[in-house]
Amino acid sequence: MNRRHSVESAGMPCRAPLHIDMLPYPVVVGAFLEREVAAFLNSRSMKRVVLLCDRRVEEHAYRYAEALPKGTPVLAFPLGERRKRLRTVEAVLDALAEAGVDRQSTVLGVGGGVAGDLFGFAAASYMRGVPFVNLATSVVAMVDASVGGKTGVDLAAGKNLAGAFCDPIAVFAAIETLDTLPARQLREGLGEVVKHAILEGGVAFTRLEELASLSLRAWPWDAIVAESIRIKSALVLDDRLESGRRELLNLGHTFAHGLEYATDYRLSHGAAVSIGLRAAGLLAIRRKMFSREEHRRLISLLTQLKLPLHDEDFETEGVLEGMAADKKARNGALRFVLPRAIGEVERGIAVPLSTVRAVVERLHTV
Ligand code: GLY
Repeated sequence: MNRRHSVESAGMPCRAPLHIDMLPYPVVVGAFLEREVAAFLNSRSMKRVVLLCDRRVEEHAYRYAEALPKGTPVLAFPLGERRKRLRTVEAVLDALAEAGVDRQSTVLGVGGGVAGDLFGFAAASYMRGVPFVNLATSVVAMVDASVGGKTGVDLAAGKNLAGAFCDPIAVFAAIETLDTLPARQLREGLGEVVKHAILEGGVAFTRLEELASLSLRAWPWDAIVAESIRIKSALVLDDRLESGRRELLNLGHTFAHGLEYATDYRLSHGAAVSIGLRAAGLLAIRRKMFSREEHRRLISLLTQLKLPLHDEDFETEGVLEGMAADKKARNGALRFVLPRAIGEVERGIAVPLSTVRAVVERLHTV
């Protein structure tokens, strides 16, 4: 069966790609974007391209390479959150040098959130910077990591602690690749989609409530991804370096990064974000900012989407240690982004450690 048909039957129709023109670089969302990628590179006279990919999506990378000039190299690397480290960046940089990549070349990174962060960082450093195009193949990468120019890797002390702001020159969300994503990864990617829907409120949230009972394979992913990217883009546009409103995108993330760190990245980012959103709600209730009714609505959505709300196997102190290393801490004090309502979120809220510890303890059970 031809792949287009297999994707259509999985509820991902071949509609015209959606173009998002809110950022200084184009963002294209759609299935089978080979022609769009080739046309973009041609329009910029970018003839020398190298593809970097996560080994797990090598098949997709080769399919996209076929639409580019003959001989376009594809360099594949085993990735994953535990390999999101400087040593992998060095391996990527060595491979670029070995492949003869120069400053006239463009790097096209193919993969999920780790690939986008790590390959984007490598492209930003190689010969002091070569243009980077992001081809996202996971929900987290599409709706979050691909746009906004945050690149980097984890350090032993915590997540995303080494990196640089460096915008891609274009982003392509290759929706057909979701069809080959393991079901669990597809589902857990929804943590970031829910986060954006809480920030936006209104139809963005109710649409997820309506879709929640459908099989994920039947979701209109192009529309959902595009809407989520628009919500993020509006916050990133005026605050590229995260000194103001962009911080709102960290809703649930201080807890999530602490949980990822404490579980040595056994929890995926999406799963940790889902638990982190519950934690942000619990903390906001304790601060008397958020009603129990709104929190129930959030928990009901996360439950219907079968996203995790707790984890039995983590050390509370480990989570607190990971949270303290978070970039969002200021002068050692933990500051949170917390909801006042679905659609109304506030940043920069300092909370005493004892309150944070009590909330983290609650995350061992539902
Ligand atoms: N992931 C949050 C941001 O890009 O600011």
